[in-house]
Amino acid sequence: MSQDQGRHYSQLAFIKDHMFASFSAPKVDLTGRTVLVTGGNTGLGYAAVLHFARSNASRIIITSRSLQRAQAAAEQVHKDVPSYRGIVDVMRLDLASWSSTIAFCKALNSDPGRLDIIVANAGVKTDTYQQTADGYEGALQINGLATALMCLLCLPKLGETAGMEVPAGSKGMKPTLTIVASDVHHWAKFPQANAPGSLIEALNDPDQFISFDERYNVSKLLSIYNAREIAKLPAVTSGKVLVNSVGPGMVVSALRDGMGPFTAWLINAMSWSAEKGTRNFLWAATQPTAPGAYVTHCKETPPSLFIVSAKGKKTQEKYWRECLAIFRQLGGRGAGQGALDIDDRERHAFRW
Ligand SMILES: NC(=O)c1ccc[n+]([C@@H]2O[C@H](COP(=O)([O-])OP(=O)(O)OC[C@H]3O[C@@H](n4cnc5c(N)ncnc54)[C@H](OP(=O)(O)O)[C@@H]3O)[C@@H](O)[C@H]2O)c1
Repeated sequence: MSQDQGRHYSQLAFIKDHMFASFSAPKVDLTGRTVLVTGGNTGLGYAAVLHFARSNASRIIITSRSLQRAQAAAEQVHKDVPSYRGIVDVMRLDLASWSSTIAFCKALNSDPGRLDIIVANAGVKTDTYQQTADGYEGALQINGLATALMCLLCLPKLGETAGMEVPAGSKGMKPTLTIVASDVHHWAKFPQANAPGSLIEALNDPDQFISFDERYNVSKLLSIYNAREIAKLPAVTSGKVLVNSVGPGMVVSALRDGMGPFTAWLINAMSWSAEKGTRNFLWAATQPTAPGAYVTHCKETPPSLFIVSAKGKKTQEKYWRECLAIFRQLGGRGAGQGALDIDDRERHAFRW
């Protein structure tokens, strides 16, 4: 599917599709493969981990902000999939903190093993405007900027894996980065795209924070931007690594906890199970897709008309330029804990 194809998708069409959609999880054998699922300890992340365990991934790495929560989930995997014989490892990652994000990437990159799949799933739906300790609005940093940084810094590891021997069961499968987005990106109003100055400063401005729904929708649009920009990097254009974004559909989840009890109940009543929604994650992470493609209902699907419009593409480029400027500044912070040797990483991640 062309990167230029978009579609208008109304909320009514979404609900109709949702009620009647039927698709199955792809049958794949991931023996010998290693899969990372950020936020894999609960919700959609954990449901995706179970799909990877049922597909025999030899090693699954789960992240959480709490090693204890990640460890509890890791133990649960073997109970929920008793036939699973692989290893589940845990790592700490807090995307609300640059230093935690960078420390995580350093640890992951120094792991001698292979890394075949990253599902960048961890995300939030904030219910008020709140800044992280790094000074960014929460959903902007967690769902947008820090996920972009994490993906960039871990991309070389996928590239290295592309050069490793291919496990017998899954020949032809390329290392893949799948970034979890959402169909709600279709309904982002995104007035900050008209900001004459910095886009990220406009998104970070409390006076321009419209509502938590709107902020979430924009943050998921940024997830698609992240995938489309990473798809322009040589690791992907060389054909070694696949990059896509995925919408799981509307899925029962703790993300609704910030809503009123009636709205949360109503939305959860209409939602798919986490098992069904995350068939999309397994599909996106294991099937061939065009660079930067958006996947939902287990197929490549056009994203919003805004994303593929001239304005949407210019906004994407502006967003990305500003992201890289922030990441370079992080690299300039010296050799303190969590500091990033951005020049070295740039060689590998940005131009590699
Ligand atoms: N549910 C839906 O209908 C739906 C629809 C479309 C897209 N999505 C997307 O699916 C993903 C998972 O959502 P979910 O519904 O499963 O939500 P969830 O149950 O609230 O899980 C969120 C996950 O993200 C982790 N997380 C939260 N804040 C974090 C941070 N600062 N740094 C690192 N990890 C953090 C959480 O782990 P800890 O709290 O243990 O750190 C948890 O594992 C999100 O990206 C969401 O936008 C969901």
